[in-house]
Amino acid sequence: MRFVPLRAAGRSRLRRATIVASALVLGSGMAVVAATQASAATGCSVNYQVTNQWPGGFGASIAITNLGDPISSWTLKWTWPSGQTVQSGWSGNFSQSGSTETVTSLSYNGNIATGATVSGIGFNGSWTGSNTNPTSFTLNGVTCNGSVGSSPTPTRTTASPTPTRTTASPTPTRTTTSPTPTSTGSPCTTNCPAHVDNPYAGAKGYVNPEWQAEANAESGGSRVSNNPTGVWLDRIAAIAGANGAMGLRAHLDQALAERSGSTPEYIQFVIYDLPGRDCAALASNGELGPNDIGRYESEYIDPIAAIMSDSKYSSLRIINIIEIDSLPNLVTNTNGTAGATDMCNTMLQNGNYVKGIQYALNKLHAISNAYNYIDAGHHAWLGWDSNFGPAADLFASTARGTTAGMASVDGFITDTANYSALQEPYFNINSTVGGQSVRQSTWVDWNNYVDELSFAQAFRTKLVSEGFSSGLGMLIDTSRDGWGGPNRPTAASTSTDMNTFVNQSRIDKRIHAGNWCNQSGAGLGERPRANPGPAGIDAYVWIKPPGESDGSSSAISNDEGKGFDRMCDPTYGGNARNGNNMSGALPNAPLSGHWFSAQFQQLMANAYPPLS
Ligand code: BGC
Repeated sequence: MRFVPLRAAGRSRLRRATIVASALVLGSGMAVVAATQASAATGCSVNYQVTNQWPGGFGASIAITNLGDPISSWTLKWTWPSGQTVQSGWSGNFSQSGSTETVTSLSYNGNIATGATVSGIGFNGSWTGSNTNPTSFTLNGVTCNGSVGSSPTPTRTTASPTPTRTTASPTPTRTTTSPTPTSTGSPCTTNCPAHVDNPYAGAKGYVNPEWQAEANAESGGSRVSNNPTGVWLDRIAAIAGANGAMGLRAHLDQALAERSGSTPEYIQFVIYDLPGRDCAALASNGELGPNDIGRYESEYIDPIAAIMSDSKYSSLRIINIIEIDSLPNLVTNTNGTAGATDMCNTMLQNGNYVKGIQYALNKLHAISNAYNYIDAGHHAWLGWDSNFGPAADLFASTARGTTAGMASVDGFITDTANYSALQEPYFNINSTVGGQSVRQSTWVDWNNYVDELSFAQAFRTKLVSEGFSSGLGMLIDTSRDGWGGPNRPTAASTSTDMNTFVNQSRIDKRIHAGNWCNQSGAGLGERPRANPGPAGIDAYVWIKPPGESDGSSSAISNDEGKGFDRMCDPTYGGNARNGNNMSGALPNAPLSGHWFSAQFQQLMANAYPPLS
């Protein structure tokens, strides 16, 4: 039976409630007010969402839209309707007195221009009995009712006697999302950098100082900490910098600072916040519900595009890895296949994966120094005929639906955050044992590929035949596909039994090729580099930062929307999707994306090529 990958089935247990405290369309009178300056115009709306809820606890996010004159700091207040308490908050100073909650701005998010939104504010709280959402908020003492008024204590009394400003439009028709960007820069319009064929060629890669510091804190980590790794924009708050981490601008500024001489610098971001994210697994469920396409566009992609298009950064080659696992999930985990999940079916039906990716491609392709690479799963996901063609079709139709068509895509990436071997040195898809093809082995299971390199090259050919540019470049994430160490075979097996031959010969030592979480025995793979040799491959890259977990090995409550996937539990005996095999996951793993020291040590010990 063909193995239908990948990732464990399951439904998001996310419970979501949304309150838009107010909404409006600003009337044209706004402009008049600014001109007459009768007094400071004030007004606001607040979007409060419960993003996750469990017995006694919950997580929530808050976005504030300033409808009045620009402000440089803010104090947001509300009253808890049912005795909730905040345990820990982020992107604001939280304090509680009785049922009154007060949040004040931090240095980086106090400025809110007229019409702009500050999002990414959030907290974990507790509740008993019920968790009724607050419905009334004040910002700097003014009730956020979605209309524009005067500040409570105007300091000017010489205003024109009959201000012509009208209040906000009486019949609000849309929810307030930031009309746009917080960018202070402007897109490059003259002498813009050329859009090169391979952005990795001849360029130096940005080393994320935050990942580097984690790696350097590990014994022996300095042997690898100089490698460029992906910067994951895995939630809206990551744009400004979640929980004190560097945000998008901070990384771009640092990349500019790292640039030396005339050598171009590339920097790699992972665009990863689609509505209903990670629809076939739980470990990387995200903050946006399946229908939150509007928020994805206006609160996530728009601000990212605004920052990346700042002409200040036009000398950088900005590489965007677009939405890991999403389109492949639509191919294999929908419509009654063995891997189908309710959430993947929903995302296929509502079209929001495709719409979101097209929106991202449009916005990011418009930036001449930015490069789009779409995630294309890996060989043990799309390598079967039944998945290969349909995946290429879906990628092609998605690209065709963008403004620039196929040209909006610079390339594809395979094996992102996975463990499939780059190359099996001791057998290939044409190998036979006792007159039988290795495709008949339990491990290969009728796949047409046995490793990533052969898959990536063949898939590239298929994509070009679908209409993508003949200059299409492939990336392979080699961060954790090394499979060195003492268990690495040194020669092909001499067994004449098919399964024994394949199992003894293969360097990929996973229990099953469908296992994906914190794999025991894996090692660092080929070091990142441009044009590694094989035709069509732009670069080997480390997009998954080695040492960052794929998911927690037991349930951990969190404010990131992440669930617990039993494929990360070493005691789990598997499901149909991994042939009911053990998960092969390492024990004691933290949440996905969090530092996992034991895994990092294992990856270094089993690196291939070995570390010197
Ligand atoms: C997580 C992200 C994280 C990324 C890189 C993903 O599995 O969901 O939060 O940033 O891995 O480690």
